[in-house]
Amino acid sequence: IPAIRERPPMPPTLILPRPDDFHVHLRNGMVRFLATPFTAEHFGYALVMPNTRPCPILTAEDAMNYRRDLMQYFPENKDFHPLMSIQITDKTTPDMITGTKAIVTAGKLYPEGVTTNSDNGVRDFKRLYPVFEAMQKEGLVLCLHGESPDHNISGLNREAAFLPQLREIAIKFPGLQIVLEHITTHDAIREVESLPNNVAATITAHHLWITIDDIIGYSQRSQGKLRPHNFCKPIAKHEFDRQALCHAATSGNPKFFFGSDSAPHPVDDKECSRVCAGCFTSPVALSILAEVFERMNALHLLEDFLSVHGKNFYGLPPRMNAKKITLIKESWVVNGSTSADWPNADYRRPILIIPFLAGETLTWRVT
Ligand code: DOR
Ligand code: ZN
Repeated sequence: IPAIRERPPMPPTLILPRPDDFHVHLRNGMVRFLATPFTAEHFGYALVMPNTRPCPILTAEDAMNYRRDLMQYFPENKDFHPLMSIQITDKTTPDMITGTKAIVTAGKLYPEGVTTNSDNGVRDFKRLYPVFEAMQKEGLVLCLHGESPDHNISGLNREAAFLPQLREIAIKFPGLQIVLEHITTHDAIREVESLPNNVAATITAHHLWITIDDIIGYSQRSQGKLRPHNFCKPIAKHEFDRQALCHAATSGNPKFFFGSDSAPHPVDDKECSRVCAGCFTSPVALSILAEVFERMNALHLLEDFLSVHGKNFYGLPPRMNAKKITLIKESWVVNGSTSADWPNADYRRPILIIPFLAGETLTWRVT
């Protein structure tokens, strides 16, 4: 008689419709080769940010060319659907908005100098009201980097200082869909909740995971060391804010949905004396979210946060035939880096990008 062996129990498994990422930096040049596959492999819709360098994406034509460029590496991947944004600057005119809806999904507005590649950002929002009017008519979403550019305001208070501006725009343009991007504070959550339904917010995985002390070396897990790969803008705030974000993300409120703000930089720009803001989170974001939602007893709401609320706000159809993703409860160690050689003499060394949480152990793994 053959021995009856008991099968080992299956680890808990989550099968989800393909998630969407409503805020991601795929870059250009070498970095796009390294960064884009992580998004293309796991996400359906991905709203691609326009702050590329040396040439930002400023017009519908730029957006069309950028999309074509990104897609040529994924001709077989029918599940990945990049949505394009253009950057709204002082030079944007209403004419540049009209008739673009077939190509452009959103206009991204950075206040001047608040973060990486925002030197061409805006100081006087009122001058752009005719552009917002055109966006409202055209049905483009306005994505706001919600931090005041005022150097007299401390970095930790810049998001709160921006909120009156958000309110003014939201009330003046009730038909304009507005997303306050990568919110980091309790104050921003309350403001978004209290504004009409034309206002929503994205929440990143890293802001659900770390606080400012994990960046500047005051938390236990930072072991007293400054952590450049945790540094982004808006900078992560206090534990009170992180908890408020966890509650907002797991509340089921359709105003909150996922935007990774995954923002890769070559290692030389992260481990140096002038560290660029941006965390490369796309390799770990889904694992982080599963862990956070599990801790909050809200795994049943993860699907809404990842693939329902965002589509609804953007007015996008579900993509029924897209491949699902599976997460299993199994520990894994985040890769130390991702790298590639560039077959071009301009780059003398291989480019290396260090993912967020490199070397750390996470408990949910995407299969
Ligand atoms: O930390 C950030 N990095 N925040 C942003 O808003 C932009 C991003 C980037 O492009 O690197
Ligand atoms: Zn961003």
